[in-house]
Amino acid sequence: MNKVTRISKAVFPVAGLGTRFLPATKAQPKEMLPIVDRPLIQYAVEEAYAAGIRHMIFVTGRNKRAIEDHFDTAYELETELEASHKHELLSLVQTLSPEDMVCSYVRQPRSLGLGHAVLCAEHLVGQSPFAVLLADDLMTGTAEGPGVLTQMVTAFAQLGTSLLAVQEVPQDQVRRYGIVAGDSVTPHLIKVRQMVEKPSPENAPSRMGVAGRYILTPGVFDLIRNQPRGAGGEIQLTDGIAGLIATEGVHALLYEGKRFDCGSKEGFLEATVEFALKHPEVGEHFRTYLRGLPIPD
Ligand code: G1P
Repeated sequence: MNKVTRISKAVFPVAGLGTRFLPATKAQPKEMLPIVDRPLIQYAVEEAYAAGIRHMIFVTGRNKRAIEDHFDTAYELETELEASHKHELLSLVQTLSPEDMVCSYVRQPRSLGLGHAVLCAEHLVGQSPFAVLLADDLMTGTAEGPGVLTQMVTAFAQLGTSLLAVQEVPQDQVRRYGIVAGDSVTPHLIKVRQMVEKPSPENAPSRMGVAGRYILTPGVFDLIRNQPRGAGGEIQLTDGIAGLIATEGVHALLYEGKRFDCGSKEGFLEATVEFALKHPEVGEHFRTYLRGLPIPD
């Protein structure tokens, strides 16, 4: 039988507490923080939808109700907008959950790590390969090119192994990432030999850092289930994927595009400025405004 290479499900681990954004995240999910006018989670869901994925699986926790409401029908709002003939806004709200998109929610009862969060989705994922998107990482493809997950889905169809999005990161930042090392297959593709979560700069096998986009084979679940706790005392996704290297093989794709680390204040601000400059409604005004700012050295 041919291996399944079509990706139809995406897992969004969204149970994290968002402590780096307190107090903004005291009473609202960090994934609902907006970049201009769309919450972070919406960018990730749209990226998955554009890659052909229709079943979105959210691994949530307490205080995350707003995410479910965001992708649900908002009857009162829609009735109001209809009555006041605000048709553009009405269709904007309705396109958030297209009819062919299915959303499932499962809770991660305790913060045991990213690997544990993905394991919580196992019964919804089943036995097919699936995508994982970390909404903190806001990814854009190149201007005219496909989104990052679309690039990965295309590469996966050829490879059939688990696949990670990677980028080169500065040496002094390797401890923030899963780091992979391996052999170049093409200028954009690496066959992974080694993978380690958040190494110290002295022990890092390379500077290839994993961005928050993965395509994983279901074999990863058994590995995560049986592995000891890893970096930071957490059940790490990286350790589960590392277990696949010897058995199924793992590849890393140097994606084309850009990543904004919206889990940090700096990355969040950079994304806000760049997305605002490109925004069809406010971009021009914002450009003029920025140009006129007296920015001291
Ligand atoms: C997670 C992963 C890490 C990856 C990073 C990308 O870390 O554990 O391997 O490089 O996302 O953003 P976190 O940022 O959740 O600590």
